[in-house]
Amino acid sequence: MNVADNSVEGRGELVLIRFEDGVAVIEVNNPPVNALSEGVPEGIARAIGTADTDASVRAIVLMGAGKTFVAGADIKQLEEMAWGRGAGAPNMHDLLKRIEDCSKPVIMAIHGTALGGGMELAMAGHYRVAVKHAQLGQPEVNLGIIPGAEGTQRLPRLAGVEKAIEMCVSGKAVKADDALAAGIIDAIVQGDLRSEAAAFARRVAADGLPHRRTRELTVHVKAHGTLQEALATGRELARKAKRNLIAPLKAIDAIEAAASLPFEEGCARERQLFQECVESQQCRALIHAFFAERGVAKISGIGKETAVAPIERIAIVGAGTMGGGIAMTCANAGIPVLLKESRQDALDAGMAAIRRNYDASVKRGRFTPDAVAERVARIHPQLDYAGFETADLVIEAVFENMETKKQVFSELTARTKADCILASNTSTLDIDEIASVTRHPENVVGLHFFSPANVMRLLEIVRGRATKKETLATALALAKRLSKVGVVVKNGPAFVGNRMMFPYMYEAQFLVEEGATPQQVDRALAQFGMAMGIFEVDDMAGIDVAWRVRRELGHFSEPGSRKPLVADKLCEMGRYGQKTGKGWYLYGEDRKPAPDPEVLRLIRESARAAGIAQREFTDEEIVERSLYGLINEGARILEEGGAQRAADIDVIYINGYGFPAWRGGPMFYADTVGLRRIYDRVCQFERELGQRWKPAPLLQRLATEGKSFREYDAEQNI
Ligand code: 3HC
Ligand code: NAI
Repeated sequence: MNVADNSVEGRGELVLIRFEDGVAVIEVNNPPVNALSEGVPEGIARAIGTADTDASVRAIVLMGAGKTFVAGADIKQLEEMAWGRGAGAPNMHDLLKRIEDCSKPVIMAIHGTALGGGMELAMAGHYRVAVKHAQLGQPEVNLGIIPGAEGTQRLPRLAGVEKAIEMCVSGKAVKADDALAAGIIDAIVQGDLRSEAAAFARRVAADGLPHRRTRELTVHVKAHGTLQEALATGRELARKAKRNLIAPLKAIDAIEAAASLPFEEGCARERQLFQECVESQQCRALIHAFFAERGVAKISGIGKETAVAPIERIAIVGAGTMGGGIAMTCANAGIPVLLKESRQDALDAGMAAIRRNYDASVKRGRFTPDAVAERVARIHPQLDYAGFETADLVIEAVFENMETKKQVFSELTARTKADCILASNTSTLDIDEIASVTRHPENVVGLHFFSPANVMRLLEIVRGRATKKETLATALALAKRLSKVGVVVKNGPAFVGNRMMFPYMYEAQFLVEEGATPQQVDRALAQFGMAMGIFEVDDMAGIDVAWRVRRELGHFSEPGSRKPLVADKLCEMGRYGQKTGKGWYLYGEDRKPAPDPEVLRLIRESARAAGIAQREFTDEEIVERSLYGLINEGARILEEGGAQRAADIDVIYINGYGFPAWRGGPMFYADTVGLRRIYDRVCQFERELGQRWKPAPLLQRLATEGKSFREYDAEQNI
């Protein structure tokens, strides 16, 4: 056994090399994901050099230690580059050339994920083998960049232009069998990867098989007649599927260079395009979003030592819109579910909706009929509490009414074991009051799923006054198991996401009272990058739902507060939104919103009666008035401890409210505008529009000190 000299202080050996019967096995050993951090490329190059010059070595296997191959460049290093700091990207070009030019065959052995720079490293090998569950991908676009280590040059040579475009534009990884079919890997191995890869390597050496250099292959198109057609289709796809993003189009430019320039020149073009992307605001925002999402699980006072309770069986109360979706989410994660309703007809309707949803997934090719049958079988519909005594967690999803919720929780506390976690899916109600009727309020928590619960990634985990840290740690672990992003928020009216939504929604309504139209506001917001305009959102969620919440939370009860004029009237007219075919918009068969002259008339008449002056608005004003109120409320929430970090709010808005990730979330976006500018505008709005625009003290402080929300987060040191 021999070890390459590449240890980095505090991290041990980053690259290991062992000699096994004529094969040098090089292992990248940089946990948790074997990123290509400083020292790793150098270590691999040294190990390759050692193996190349060792006469006893006939072939080389390169693999990842631990649970994965190489998950790409070190994103911390990229972040430094994005902010114009640090030493820049590692020079992968020399390493990849060194591997390709090695006199011994180099076999890449892949398990876990080969992503970004990891996949690019793999493509420089002479052969690639992978285990069945391995995945390969070029996810760089998700970080606002393009592959920067020759992925755009090698992938179209291996798999063709179309596959390269598909992978570099979507950022989605492919499974091993797809990679095999596309020509990206050469074999799928059964059994132990290390010994199978070594055996493969010995065969290549013994049979004198060619050292296949990817760079020497020819770029080819598969499905299209010409390269230009393939590129045009790709660009169209990129514009549609990745609206507003710069990197996907640049990735296609780089792929075009692969097809039209010699390899070395294509690589230089890729580097240039990569550099343009990494210096962009989009890259900074998306890297912020990447780390923000991974940061939410870090909660002060909760660590690895905090006990996480095993969740083997979940019970749900209420099989309506949310209960059904939550049941599907649990079943999809392999967890058996008891689903309780109070009435047979509601239970039947709930189960029918679940089956309909799954059937649609089968039609879309997402699940096989067998997989669906397995999932449905995990959901046990019932009208009583039978079996609740064995549940580790109960999620309540009954009507949004405090008395009903308290009644359910007092029944639950009597019928569940003492350490069972009791969760409410309430979107606005006080968790402490709900917990007050239970024997163990320390086990009560809010689990605020978003609609449709089986689709939306966000889960607000609401911490009540009594909620103990083990309950939170268990909720966070469960979120991960359910493939959700769990963000811990403090109990309080409407928690974080919905609380910020109200000033945003009301301001949009004031804008239309002052002369804008719902479609103009929605168009401006969509152009800004929101997945949907706010009036469309209101129609989708239900204008009646917002009406009930307004009353429940006592909005506009303060004397002198300006109350929106139209939403209540729409409710009184039975225009609840999509579900009634009419709301702010009209909905036909295609369920697409169309402007309704009746609504416009109602808006104008209401404004005239209230003496509101009419004027025109620019898109910029619309975005400022809609979003600055939301940001101001976010600052207030932060200061009150409603969310731990500004970045947590960003994660909430990106994953639950369609805020564009490429703008980094509302708080990061505020930083990019500059908190001074936001604060000045908020002050101006306060002067012109009144009290509701009172600036949050935190916004004022940060603006005055010339600081950003990112700096505020860093100071929290959580
Ligand atoms: N660089 C630095 N840190 C990384 C990283 C990377 N490439 N990938 C993951 N991490 C860190 C995470 O921040 C997290 O750190 P923490 O524990 O301190 O919060 C830890 O590794 C574990 O990550 P996850 O919680 O995400 O673990 P999972 O097991 O759920 O997922 C994964 C693993 C699928 C590898 C996922 O982390 C992932 O998708 N990572 C990003 C992969 C990627 O985008 N690679 C491309 C990078 S860009 C590039 O390679 C440019 C090249 O072309 C030059
Ligand atoms: P829903 O009206 O679709 O479903 C509620 C179901 O609970 C009904 O089927 C009803 O029969 C049942 N139910 C009532 N009392 C019961 C009892 N004692 N035992 C068993 N079942 C009972 O309501 P929805 O939309 O699913 O909302 C449920 C909860 O989720 C509410 O607290 C709501 O605020 C919250 N929520 C709703 C979202 C949405 O978009 N619909 C989003 C996030 C949270």
